[in-house]
Amino acid sequence: MSPPVVTAVILAAGKGTRMKSALHKVLHPIGGRPMIDHLLASLAQVRVDRKVMVVGAERSQVEDAMVGRGIAFAVQEPQLGTGHAVMAARPHFEGANGDILVLYGDTPLISPEVIESMLAARRATGPDGRMPGIVVLGFRPADPASYGRLILGADGALDRIVEFKDANADEAAIGLCNSGVMAFDSDLLPQCLDRLSNDNAKGEYYLTDTVAIARSLGRSAVVVEAAEEDLLGVNSRLDLAVAEAVFQTRMRRRAMTEGATLTAPETVFFSYDTELGRDVMVGPNVVFGPGVRVDDGATIHAFSHLEGAEVGEGASVGPYARLRPAAKIGAGARVGNFVEVKKATLEPGAKANHLSYIGDARVGAGANIGAGTITCNYDGFDKHVTEIGPGAFIGSNTALVAPVKIGSGAVIGAGSAIARDVPDDALALTRAERRVAEGWAAKFRARKKAARKQD
Ligand code: UD1
Ligand code: CA
Repeated sequence: MSPPVVTAVILAAGKGTRMKSALHKVLHPIGGRPMIDHLLASLAQVRVDRKVMVVGAERSQVEDAMVGRGIAFAVQEPQLGTGHAVMAARPHFEGANGDILVLYGDTPLISPEVIESMLAARRATGPDGRMPGIVVLGFRPADPASYGRLILGADGALDRIVEFKDANADEAAIGLCNSGVMAFDSDLLPQCLDRLSNDNAKGEYYLTDTVAIARSLGRSAVVVEAAEEDLLGVNSRLDLAVAEAVFQTRMRRRAMTEGATLTAPETVFFSYDTELGRDVMVGPNVVFGPGVRVDDGATIHAFSHLEGAEVGEGASVGPYARLRPAAKIGAGARVGNFVEVKKATLEPGAKANHLSYIGDARVGAGANIGAGTITCNYDGFDKHVTEIGPGAFIGSNTALVAPVKIGSGAVIGAGSAIARDVPDDALALTRAERRVAEGWAAKFRARKKAARKQD
């Protein structure tokens, strides 16, 4: 027999009105990427044969973001409830022999392990000796709020789901809630959808009603429970902040488990793709934007902000450093306080310790960039490159007007504006001639005081 086909149906047709946003709810970022991408990343680790996304409100935003991901779209217009949304996807799973896994685009932090456990429960024997027709993912949130409530029967299986708005006081007191994630026998689901009505408090076709319908058709439903943090539903900006916090906690734990030291983990913020090596030290209040890799033994001191940057082995960054996209800090190199690096490579052992801007540049191995050095990379129209040879010494407060090359081992005198190339091992400096007028200040003061007295 061929293995069962697993079709994932992801619901994302709702407007997300409570977000009060021009951006579709599922595209709001958590840890630097859209929440829907978190869900898809978990799904990618599970055996799923087909993915269908149900879209409706602002659907072009979602469709554009999903280009090239191997996802089919079903359009639900208008949006008449979660059951109605699954009906819209029906042509994509009708006749498939296997499982229909329904997920919500606004419940993004579910782990692959939890999805696997649901598919496993579908294969296990239910209370009636058959495979359950429906598996519902339940949880016990600290505040059950307006989640649907799971009503269990005497046999411990699931009898029905009551939406909060339709619940009586006893039902509302139940702590076991519906996460929204459900797995269906593909033969059963269409029969249940045929029987859905919208005779309820919201006037919607509730997917949750499929449970009681399955029971009436002689099939069982069971609950698999998972932790609340896996199943947070994002309906508002407040929920989004809670989801972000859960994600950050996971990332901090992962960084430490993999051998990085975070002195104040609760103050360090990660992106979904941040990579830290072993024995990396991260001080307090560090922010990692997307695309950062830090190699073994490097230190990121307090209050640094990194984005799209690579930090080599044993390098030191900050405190108060800013690494912008395409900053590459070589092994053992140092980027100190109030230094900004953009699209620039510092080769191994190079140093820019204080108050500098290094943009569109290559700084050779062991070169020293004095305090206040600026690469003047922009002429108001185009960006130009500065090349600094290995072992060069750039005196403090130097303006390097790009395009310009400083030879290896060259020395630039402090306070220079360098607009033409400097040969290897040369000294270059631009300084106005010094003039000293002995006694001038004393005479000046005497003259001024005398003038005051006459007034
Ligand atoms: C739903 C569940 C509730 C569960 C909760 C978990 C139903 C009837 N209720 O309620 O039991 O506790 O999720 O978060 O299923 N959607 C569509 N088309 C629609 C309506 C919704 O695609 O017509 C999508 C939304 O975009 C969203 C998801 O389905 O991704 C859930 O919809 P939402 O309106 O947020 O459902 P809840 O009221 O939270
Ligand atoms: Ca919701």
